Amino acid sequence: MNIQVGKLESGEARCPALSTQEIIAKDKVVAPGWVRSESYEFLGDEDISTDRYIDPAYAKGEMERLWTRTWQFACREEHIPNVGDYYVYDLGSYSFIVTRVAKDDIRAYFNACLHRGTKLRPSGTEGSAAEFQCPFHGWSWNLDGSNKRIVCNWDFPHADPETFKLPQARVQTLGGFVWVNMDADAPTLEDYLGEEALAHFKAWKLEDRYIHVHVQKAFPANWKLTVEAFLEAYHVIETHPQVAPSNADANSQYDVYGEHVNRFISPLGVCSPHLEGQYSEQDILDQFTVGDGSMLAGERPTVGEGTARQAMADMFRGMFEQATNSDLSKISDSEILDCFSYTVFPNTYVFPGISLPMVYRFRPDPRDHRRCIYEVMFMRPVPLDGPRPAPAEPVVLTDGQSFTEAEGMDPGFGRILDQDTDNLYAQQEGLEASAKHGLTLGNYQEIRIRHFEKAVDKYMAMEPKRPNWQRPKVG
Ligand code: FES
Ligand SMILES: [Fe+2]
Repeated sequence: MNIQVGKLESGEARCPALSTQEIIAKDKVVAPGWVRSESYEFLGDEDISTDRYIDPAYAKGEMERLWTRTWQFACREEHIPNVGDYYVYDLGSYSFIVTRVAKDDIRAYFNACLHRGTKLRPSGTEGSAAEFQCPFHGWSWNLDGSNKRIVCNWDFPHADPETFKLPQARVQTLGGFVWVNMDADAPTLEDYLGEEALAHFKAWKLEDRYIHVHVQKAFPANWKLTVEAFLEAYHVIETHPQVAPSNADANSQYDVYGEHVNRFISPLGVCSPHLEGQYSEQDILDQFTVGDGSMLAGERPTVGEGTARQAMADMFRGMFEQATNSDLSKISDSEILDCFSYTVFPNTYVFPGISLPMVYRFRPDPRDHRRCIYEVMFMRPVPLDGPRPAPAEPVVLTDGQSFTEAEGMDPGFGRILDQDTDNLYAQQEGLEASAKHGLTLGNYQEIRIRHFEKAVDKYMAMEPKRPNWQRPKVG
């Protein structure tokens, strides 16, 4: 599908098939403004240096420059519904106790004792507490971070309980997510996201969803390489050919918003332009409803006079309404069907679409720059007639396990993630073996990768900034 781009400026060329916006414009239930808009910007075409993926010193630099200044999704509000509930969020070597101090007061404490540094709560744990007591010598802190007890305080006249409060990271909530940032000088989360992306976020009402399946697995590649593997639909035809007959890949839409947010819209129920003319509308529908690679199993619906896309939108709407006891009649076909992927720099992906609503989170492995921790959380609407269900416990897969083995994981989706895992292994190894020390990116389909790496560059150009709490002098 090589085409003559003629005299177009860099970044102006598009796949000659119907655009994402043209596909969505034909839908029966009209999409909202946040779907029917574009925000592409050409950001240059220089190669991206490979050092950032293969050099352990670069990863160390990120820990002092990037992770200490950015807003990160630590947990969902439903992880800590009651006062005293806490959730330990670990990021590289950093760790936070995120806890609900009062109904509308959530705080994130650096998870380390102010005596000799012991972690107050083990990594990866959650629970409920009346105080945070150190397991080593028993120093203790109240929920609000004030010091409760210094054992043998006669021996510590230089440790004033008034000032020995647990140091905090900043916390904000949005869409039911709890976000943390270690940098007291960082912009607010609203300014960080920017006006337009913030408006999108608010429109989704993700506070009305809950996590019903949560799967975690390590990926065999640098965290940035892994993030980037999900930033484009360009690889679908080669890596995930089983979904291409019902996925507009080369004509997916890519947008950037400010410095920290980007997205794609990948329409479903239409054939990949790479396979033009090879599949009838009924064939496209069958991809979803029968056979190998289908996302759904069951009887065989027929397209009739209409399109596969419309048949799928109608079918999905009915199915999800029934499954979740919700009213989706006003939700557009595009929101029901399409894959909307938003990234909040550095490591949070939000997929607000109804058919596959998910959140991804990527975290570096502090011991190995070639590995990262990946989580996928599948979201469901909170039922109209019942209490908010508790969030699912994470299913943690070992390296050798397939994503399809995770309980609750759709097998077709698990297979896609396995295919991505294989690529990442080969890409990390290939970058280390390569004579070419740069990645060459497509101007349009890979704009999100460039946008992401520009943000990485911005933070890496800054001075190191580690959280730094000093013991106040007494008297
Ligand atoms: S290290 Fe925590 S009480 Fe001693
Ligand atoms: Fe993929």
